[in-house]
This record gives sequence, C-alpha cells and structure tokens, in this order.
Amino acid sequence: MKNNKNTKETNYWNPNTYNKHTAFVSQLALPVVDLLDPQNGEKILDAGCGEGTLAVEIARRGAKVIGVDMSAEMIEQCQAKGIEAYVGSVTDLPYNEAFDAVFSNAMLHWVKDAKGAVQNIAKSLKSGGRFVCEFGGEGNAYHLISAMQEVFANHPEFGVFDNPWYFPSIEAYTTLLESEGFSVEYMEIIPRPTPMDDVSHWLEIFANGVTKHLSQEQFETFKEECRVILKETIYIEEEGWMLDYKRLRVKAVKKG
Ligand code: BEZ
Repeated sequence: MKNNKNTKETNYWNPNTYNKHTAFVSQLALPVVDLLDPQNGEKILDAGCGEGTLAVEIARRGAKVIGVDMSAEMIEQCQAKGIEAYVGSVTDLPYNEAFDAVFSNAMLHWVKDAKGAVQNIAKSLKSGGRFVCEFGGEGNAYHLISAMQEVFANHPEFGVFDNPWYFPSIEAYTTLLESEGFSVEYMEIIPRPTPMDDVSHWLEIFANGVTKHLSQEQFETFKEECRVILKETIYIEEEGWMLDYKRLRVKAVKKG
C-alpha cells in the first residue's frame, strides 16, 4: 500500500481512505466553483478531478465536464459518477483550444513543473477562456512541513526530506501566468484552518509519497514524532486538529 503505482506521481491515492478522511477537500471548494461560474453548455476541463465530487457539481450547473487525473483508481470512481474522465497529467494534456474553462482544485501544489502545467492549461483553452483554480499558496502547511522536516533531520536513517510541493506566492504565480499569455483577474491567498479528525490520518494520506521508502516501523515512528511536534502547533484543546492551510485562489483569462 505504501508504494506508488504510478512513477510520475508524488503520492499514491487510495480513494477509500482518501474519501473517509478528506471529504473537506471538495466541500470547502464550493466557492471556487462559484468563482468558475459554469454556464449552460460550456465545455470545462477539471484538471485533477479526483473522485469527481466537484466535476459532478460543475455538470449539475449545466456544463459538459471532462475530468483528468493521474490516479486510475480516482478516475474509475469519477466515471462511476457519470463523468467523462481520463487518466492523464496536467503537464501533458492532449487538448488544443478545446475548453471554455479549465478548473482545478487542490491539485496544482503537487506539480513541481508549474510552468509545464500552465502551458498545457493555456493550450487547452479557447481564446478568452478562463482558468480558475485553488491550491496551496505561500506559507501553506508551514507547521505540517516543518514537523516532517524536523523528524527527518532527527533520523538520518530516513534519508533526505524531499519536499514535493509547490506553494507559490501571489507575485510568483502572477508572473508565471502572465508569461504564458494570461491576464489575471483575481488572485488571493486565503488562510483556511481546516479541521482534521487526526493528523496521523493526514500524514498517511498526504505524506505517503515522501515516506514511501520508509519501512512500516519507521513510518510509525515518523507519524508518532510528527504528532508530538504538531500537538504543540496545530492542536487546539476545544477544537482538535486544525491543518494550517493557506489557499491560493485564482481566476485568469487567456488573452485573445
Ligand atoms: C494541501 O492540500 O494543502 C497540502 C497537501 C499536501 C501537503 C501539504 C498541503
């Protein structure tokens, strides 16, 4: 279970575990769908559609949605919800000026080749098409990542902590979008403390990629020591675990 099935992915996604502990990922993204404002008959690409909850919501608002995701398991679940969906990468999209809009939630921070992703999104959009997304921005998950780094530093036998995430600033992402022919209409970093049942579950799901080389025993040590550190920073007695998320929310338009 701790092995990546797809070597291009930095994480292995188990849809059942993912859905059980992270329903918040889709539920908290409805304002991003509002920002997208899907119109009847529009053709919209959901890049990183996961198991399809938001693709279904976009389709419910009248658009024709195509989903793409790196995880075959997630795509199966998305297709089972009636969405046309394919296994694929946002850095290698087979579309040319095909969509009125490209939407993406909670996925682009997994793509280190941010330029490749933006180029592929631009290529897939019609002129005047919108790119609406939300993902981790500068400072996202600061405490979570610091704790992981600290535990790796305390255990040389774990090897080097290889941070797979991309959390850009507003300035960096604006520059990138403008360099690829977009005009930015809206961009904001939104602090969004996010409740989680137990941070160990978060580590099992989201740190799966950075710990895949650890033995099961090392992984248990990793989780326990992260938990102890994080109890001091992101655990609140009355509220429980609160992930220190900061979302970068974006609407940009492809110039004609
Ligand atoms: C996030 O969704 O914000 C996130 C995912 C993985 C690691 C850190 C943050």
